[in-house]
Amino acid sequence: MVKVSPSILAADFLKLQLELEKVRNADYLHIDVMDGHFVPNITFGIPLMEALNRTDTPPLDVHLMISEPSRYVDKFIDLGAKIVAVHIEAENHLHRLLENIKSRGVEAFVAINPHTPVNSLENILPFLDGVLVMTVNPGFTGQKFIPHIAEKVKQLDIIRKERDLKFRIAVDGGINLNNAPIVVEFGADILVMGAAIFRSAAPEEVVTKVKELKR
Ligand code: DX5
Ligand code: ZN
Repeated sequence: MVKVSPSILAADFLKLQLELEKVRNADYLHIDVMDGHFVPNITFGIPLMEALNRTDTPPLDVHLMISEPSRYVDKFIDLGAKIVAVHIEAENHLHRLLENIKSRGVEAFVAINPHTPVNSLENILPFLDGVLVMTVNPGFTGQKFIPHIAEKVKQLDIIRKERDLKFRIAVDGGINLNNAPIVVEFGADILVMGAAIFRSAAPEEVVTKVKELKR
């Protein structure tokens, strides 16, 4: 079953509660935390997580686009993150960090920027619960999907079969109803979608359509 994680970054912040009601049928809610250092944008973080804790949401899937994520991971877990994704490009002690995330009962994902090859994950794959393949350069919602980069999903799917590993594959950036079937066919298990959900006339229907996709 394909899982959908709507990215709240594309929502209308003036109407956040209403926006959340539109994606009740989603599997996760994707929280893009940016620090203006690791990526050229600043979004939101701990105070937003606190606010989300006061309402009903799908399980929180936190994507940390911040330098030195190990400094903040515990705080996001305290605030209910069910998935935490950290960038391989941002952390010097990835194994230790993944072990810490998992020890707290949270799924540990590693995100890779478009320039980062799949083989850079070779030694860490047995220790992670998922790989978040960025199909745009992180920083903004509404960017164009880079088809060539999505081939990494295929590579990862082959590797997990060959090595008999159980990690999940998520894709993030420019995913819409046109390219969703392609990435699912490549092996993606979780589709993060911002603009294609929140800037559509019928967010709930988009979520349903993606969940019905079959490999
Ligand atoms: C990009 C973020 C994405 C983004 C997705 O840096 O990590 O999660 O919000 O938005 P769309 O689907 O609009 O590209
Ligand atoms: Zn993201």
